[in-house]
Amino acid sequence: MIELRNEVIPFIQQVSEKNDFFGILAALQPKDDYTYRHNVAVGILSTLLGKWLKLKPEELGMLTIAATLHDIGKIMIPSEILTKAGPLDEEEMALMRKHTTYGYELIRDTVGTNHQQALVALQHHERMDGSGYPFGVLGHRITDFSKIVAVTDIFHAMTSERFYRPAAPLYEVLRQMEDNAFGKLDPYICSVFINKLMQSMLGNDVELTDGRIGKIILILAHDPLRPLVNIEEDFIDLSRHRDLGIVRVIPQ
Ligand SMILES: [Fe+2]
Repeated sequence: MIELRNEVIPFIQQVSEKNDFFGILAALQPKDDYTYRHNVAVGILSTLLGKWLKLKPEELGMLTIAATLHDIGKIMIPSEILTKAGPLDEEEMALMRKHTTYGYELIRDTVGTNHQQALVALQHHERMDGSGYPFGVLGHRITDFSKIVAVTDIFHAMTSERFYRPAAPLYEVLRQMEDNAFGKLDPYICSVFINKLMQSMLGNDVELTDGRIGKIILILAHDPLRPLVNIEEDFIDLSRHRDLGIVRVIPQ
């Protein structure tokens, strides 16, 4: 905890001060040591989301630590399971899911942490409709911190390349998250994340599904996933071109 507070947390807070969201993600993309990068990325993304949700500074500090430690229980899971190239069988999946309860116990037994942080490790795979694990509890029993980390955890996992599958295109991930906003994820937290994330893309170059490169020049609040894009002399309103989407953002 001392090392985390003195070295990792200040780094995460410093990085989350920058608004170059996609630059941060790109820097965290190299293929080695996914688990480490994932925890740092979820720490950064949750800190950003916490600011967007206007958490008080002391809550934000608590959230940064909770988010950075959310998967700490994975240190108890055999590495053959963590790095298995194919899908996990039932028995392996049951063991993998225990990273939540292991994480809860580890954080609970660590001096300098609090119960809110232990609960994030326990609940970040729980879903609003009760379809999550380890206990399948409903939304009203899931803490706000856990709901925040559920959103950033899903986002980072889906947009990351893994050795058994490629990274999913950004627009597909956000669209899927938008679909999940009612049912699995907290709708308010999820919509703030998608809106702010899209707003931070204003002025960035993006690659479209047809291979063309354009610049995002306007984001519509009611349909943030389909902005107005400028390509040379043309202006393409993605809300009217449902066949087109954004594949990736080109870091500035
Ligand atoms: Fe997890």
